[in-house]
Amino acid sequence: MDKLEQLYEGKAKKVFKTEDPDVLIVDYKDDATAFNGEKKGTIVGKGVINNKMSNYVMSLLEKEGVPTHLVKELSDRETAVKKVEIVPLEVIIRNVSAGSFAKKLGIEEGRKLLCPTLEFSYKDDALGDPFINSYYALALGLATKEEIDLITKYAFQVNDVLIKYFLGIGIELIDFKIEFGRYHGQIILADEISPDTCRLWDVTTHEKLDKDRFRRDLGNVEDAYQEVFHRLGIK
Ligand code: TMP
Repeated sequence: MDKLEQLYEGKAKKVFKTEDPDVLIVDYKDDATAFNGEKKGTIVGKGVINNKMSNYVMSLLEKEGVPTHLVKELSDRETAVKKVEIVPLEVIIRNVSAGSFAKKLGIEEGRKLLCPTLEFSYKDDALGDPFINSYYALALGLATKEEIDLITKYAFQVNDVLIKYFLGIGIELIDFKIEFGRYHGQIILADEISPDTCRLWDVTTHEKLDKDRFRRDLGNVEDAYQEVFHRLGIK
């Protein structure tokens, strides 16, 4: 499968057309941004790790009954994926207080939540991805009721699978963001699942093994990505 014209360049990935109108090639970069692109940097090796980790996690999820966009890993940084129409919602699940949740509610980071939460952001960089609820999403025609129900069901299913999986490698899944797309009318998991899009803490030391090391200038950013990658045991 060959890359044809570039369709899009995002903050962390480039997307190319292929000869198959239903398939795109995603090429993961080492570029990192935070705070809606205000902070910029490079995390050496991130593209390879995010590509391989995302594919690994998506195949795991497929086996557990969550449909994903994954077609085939093509190289260290490139993957063929189903071409979807992205549902313009960032779907965030939280198990432990951290990040914007901790800040907004004045709750210390690290407090275990009594049950997982789900929230939506409207995917719009110009607006800074504002927090919305399902009524907004329906009212704005971002998704149908059936799609929102399915997205919610899949998101909690992803959480159940990933909590267990990460625990097995000594990692606590604090929270994560996922995105969905429409593929011939079907809702499937799209985008990526990586240390860019999850908060991952070491179970015993609570060391942060994710992009917060970059966002907050905590140092050892590359080491954290490598650590997660090694624990996943991906070749
Ligand atoms: P938050 O606490 O900053 O709202 O982030 C919640 C989760 O979403 C966290 O795991 C990081 C992830 N995330 C993204 O993947 N992209 C983003 O643009 C933001 C703000 C958060």
